[in-house]
Amino acid sequence: MAADADLESLPGVGPATAQKLRENGYESFQSLAVAGPGELANSADIGENTASDIVNAARQEADIGDFETGTDVLERRERIGKLSWLVDDVDDLLGGGVETQSITEVYGEFGSGKSQITHQLAVNVQLPTEVGGLRGCAVFIDSEDTFRPERIEDMVRGLPEEALEATIEDRGLEGSPDDEDTMEELVADFLEKIHVAKAFNSNHQILLAEKAQDVASKQEETEWPVRVVAVDSLTAHFRAEYVGRGQLAERQQKLNKHIHDLMRIGDLYNTAMIVTNQVASNPDAFFGDPTQPIGGNILGHSSTFRMYLRKSKANKRIVKLVDAPNLADGEAVIRIEGEGLKPE
Ligand code: GTP
Ligand code: MG
Repeated sequence: MAADADLESLPGVGPATAQKLRENGYESFQSLAVAGPGELANSADIGENTASDIVNAARQEADIGDFETGTDVLERRERIGKLSWLVDDVDDLLGGGVETQSITEVYGEFGSGKSQITHQLAVNVQLPTEVGGLRGCAVFIDSEDTFRPERIEDMVRGLPEEALEATIEDRGLEGSPDDEDTMEELVADFLEKIHVAKAFNSNHQILLAEKAQDVASKQEETEWPVRVVAVDSLTAHFRAEYVGRGQLAERQQKLNKHIHDLMRIGDLYNTAMIVTNQVASNPDAFFGDPTQPIGGNILGHSSTFRMYLRKSKANKRIVKLVDAPNLADGEAVIRIEGEGLKPE
């Protein structure tokens, strides 16, 4: 895997430099191939000439992608799937649902429902397409220890009758949603199809995204390909670890690589990427405008769909679509219930 790239095979890279490179997020030939010699020289404490040689050598080694024809691009786009929230107003906003081969960023203040949404999509993705799913499994990268199997159970049990019947039949289970034995089996099967990993820090999170690509590659051969990868939260570790102004550039560079890795999974395996990002609720807070996601510009540019969540009365939340390509901005209202996300 890319993370195990033998950096010491590059010219001028000994064990100490290799370690510095890794510590700075250059863990693969690919990340070195696209690095600027200047930034590399700085972060690894090496001369610019050596850095240049490293970049050039890494370019030889790296799989930096290839050109493809317009036909290939068209074929790939025709495979784009739409994952339903099972809330019509939100699906309408999104032009049918959360798209595969894209990153969707959900941002909002604490308690606005970001984690609930990632849980719900890990359930919905498993449904047959005729009831809004993508009939695939989920990968869940959990950086805030938020994943709760009990919540998955609530949400499975709370699915609309029609969806329950369809997925029971699809999985070849006996019985109906009224049979407790069937429901227990069904819940267990949903949980089996969610691959969860906890990220302990930002570097670990980056590695897990690379690992997620392995899971996607392995599942692709099976009946249950990965159709959604959720990262909840995308930014928390990065914010906690890179606090000073001087570390901002490094933080963005790492976050950029991470997002790039996620994008790649989306493209290669026709997967929807859903990432969460907390924003400060207090306008005077360090990060300024509460409606601005914290990841900064890079995240803004590369997340194709951005959804802003706002608290409303009680369990209501306002979902706003912000600058999505080819879609009108708009708002919808959802409720967070014991049984999961529901229409207003
Ligand atoms: P941070 O991770 O702190 O930024 O928040 P978040 O945006 O991820 O919020 P989260 O998705 O955890 O939503 C929290 C809200 O969902 C709570 O305020 C509850 O209203 C609701 N919620 C969470 N779990 C349950 C549950 O089991 N039952 C019900 N009815 N509501 C729940
Ligand atoms: Mg959360």
